[in-house]
Amino acid sequence: MKAVVLCGGEGTRLRPFTYTQAKHLLPVAGRPVVEHALKAVREAGIRDVAIVVSPSVEAQFRERLGDGSRIGLRVAYAVQPEPKGLAHAVLCAEEFVGDESFLVYLGDNLLQGGVTGVVDLFRSQNPAAVVTLRQVEDPRRFGVAVIENGQLVRLVEKPKDPPSDLAIVGAYAFTPLLFQAAREVKPSFRGELELTDCLQWLVDRGHRVLPYRVEGWWQDVGRPADLLVANRLLLTQIEPRVEGEVDAGSTVEGPVVIERGARVLGSRLIGPVVIGEEAVVERSTVGPNAAIGPRAVVRDAETADSILMDGARVEGLTLQESVIGREAAVRVDPSCAALFLGDHGSATIRSSQHVSS
Ligand code: DAU
Repeated sequence: MKAVVLCGGEGTRLRPFTYTQAKHLLPVAGRPVVEHALKAVREAGIRDVAIVVSPSVEAQFRERLGDGSRIGLRVAYAVQPEPKGLAHAVLCAEEFVGDESFLVYLGDNLLQGGVTGVVDLFRSQNPAAVVTLRQVEDPRRFGVAVIENGQLVRLVEKPKDPPSDLAIVGAYAFTPLLFQAAREVKPSFRGELELTDCLQWLVDRGHRVLPYRVEGWWQDVGRPADLLVANRLLLTQIEPRVEGEVDAGSTVEGPVVIERGARVLGSRLIGPVVIGEEAVVERSTVGPNAAIGPRAVVRDAETADSILMDGARVEGLTLQESVIGREAAVRVDPSCAALFLGDHGSATIRSSQHVSS
């Protein structure tokens, strides 16, 4: 079985971060969003993965993930020229898939239990497709499925008046019959070829489509605030490890990852926390729920529930529920701020709370 991980699309709702970085490469809990998805694929026992990307970010993906060997996978890339929908994105990987069955995983979906369950169900039952479902409070922003007598009977994308509270989660398994469905369905109301409509196509023709229900947390990363939610959820799963330096004047509580070359000096870490390679934490309190990127600096500061990307600097303030872009800097007189600051941005907050950038 192979996997196709969808990372196309524009990521406009994650601006300003996505002006300079692909949405799926933004860091959450110390590594890019897509690496969490790829880890789940590997844990499901799949090794051959195609990542579908937009032309403008292909190079970024290749630079970060290469051939996948660093994370135990064989990664190929398929370019989707325009974001014409999930089914269109899967068609872009048809040559890679060939005549094998395959998992489709949306690269911005994070699932507590990973994708092993959907893959195992597909392998044991040999249906035409398996679709992952989860009960949600507001199904209107998802694909929605209707089950009658244990059978999937209807699937509808983003219904205004949802026929059930079962949302389609972004993990599916298919036989190559999916490609025929993707070629035959018509674009939806939003002008996209929908996987949801492909599933309905299969059901309408009497093919066996099995629901796989999950109950653990499920988070997609679409807006800046989602980064923080995903960060908090994924940090609960870190395996503590200290490879950097923690001096005698520092204390560490709870689960903490300190990467190689990082230095923690005269500081307090309250896990869960991840400190990236070569980062410096000095005279500061970091955590809980903080992910400090490689080469970032936290000095004379407190930060919790936040993400600092590579090379970001935070000095002299209490920073909570904030996302600071690569090489961006925040320096402050004692104060408290909540910021979403893009790459290379700079905010100086004086005691009068005047902000300049
Ligand atoms: O998150 C689950 C939902 O994902 C499902 O409930 C829906 O049925 C499904 O259609 C999808 O809806 P979204 O509107 O959330 O999909 P979105 O446009 O955000 O794209 C999901 C992923 O697929 C994202 O990683 C980007 C990628 N993508 C998207 C499009 C439109 C592509 O690779 N190519 C595309 O053309």
